[in-house]
Amino acid sequence: MKPIQVGLLGIGTVGSGVFNVLQRNQEEIRRRAGRGIEITMVADLDVARARAVVGEGIQVVNDARAIIANPDIDIVIELIGGYGIARALVLEAIAAGKHVVTANKALLAVHGTEIFAAASAKGVMVAFEAAVAGGIPIIKALREGLTANRIQWIAGIINGTTNFILSEMRDKGLDFDVVLKEAQRLGYAEADPTFDIEGVDAAHKVTLMSAIAFGIPVQFDKAYVEGITKLGAADIKYAEQLGYRIKLLGITKRADKGVELRVHPSLVPAKRLIANVEGAMNAVVVQGDAVGSTLYYGKGAGSEPTASAVIADLVDIARLHTADPEHRVPHLAFQANTLADAMG
Ligand code: HSE
Repeated sequence: MKPIQVGLLGIGTVGSGVFNVLQRNQEEIRRRAGRGIEITMVADLDVARARAVVGEGIQVVNDARAIIANPDIDIVIELIGGYGIARALVLEAIAAGKHVVTANKALLAVHGTEIFAAASAKGVMVAFEAAVAGGIPIIKALREGLTANRIQWIAGIINGTTNFILSEMRDKGLDFDVVLKEAQRLGYAEADPTFDIEGVDAAHKVTLMSAIAFGIPVQFDKAYVEGITKLGAADIKYAEQLGYRIKLLGITKRADKGVELRVHPSLVPAKRLIANVEGAMNAVVVQGDAVGSTLYYGKGAGSEPTASAVIADLVDIARLHTADPEHRVPHLAFQANTLADAMG
């Protein structure tokens, strides 16, 4: 079966990670998906930067619409970010019958209802594992692993930048601004870092988890949002002395009427696992009625962790479109006959 063809919109930090991981693990990904997955077109305003990442042999354009207009492209990956042009392009890609994979939590938290309705009407997928908690497969956990449960609440550290800032302020006594600059240098922070430090990015993510967990429309405008900009070194120190850590938590839970949706700094007892999540790491606790409490931990930002989630979505879509039924049930797609084969 011919490889599924992918067009990539935006090849910055995450886009280059997607390209590199797809190349590096090409053979394994092909076996798991049941067919090859190839990026055949890349669009970026900075064509030279894109060319430097992908080398020769892949079409690089500066007009994203050239990808959407190409009938050979099956999946469009949107890594542009923001609500403006990204929204228009995602809707156009859907209208053109393309599946869409996106890491754009802002777009989906604000315009998700419109986008998911358009995708459903057209019979295409909009997959967004990378939009929440980077490399942690929390969307798949909520949709698949925990699907039998009545979810009671979700609470998580879902913004790496602010967790990095709080950790570095506490451990090294560094100033807020110094640590924020470092987070930007490491590629954790949003293009507009006020989204990170004011809690908006975490609110986008908890809005998406809430929609999946409770089957409600995405309603970012209903979230209570408070960031970490009012916190000082003294708050962090006093919390420590009282046996707590300050963490920016995204929380959604069933309430007597409806669902709570909020992001704010929280005092977490220092002995709790989630209090010890340091640096740009993320962690999400999900409480289900059948399973009890489950915890998901990993890198919530950065090039290859986020790429890992983007590619998982590509594989999901490829599996649905493979002629080989074995690959529609991934657990049966054995890759080696024996352990010795697997270990090479
Ligand atoms: N700015 C985000 C963070 C990137 O710091 O977590 C990943 O969504």
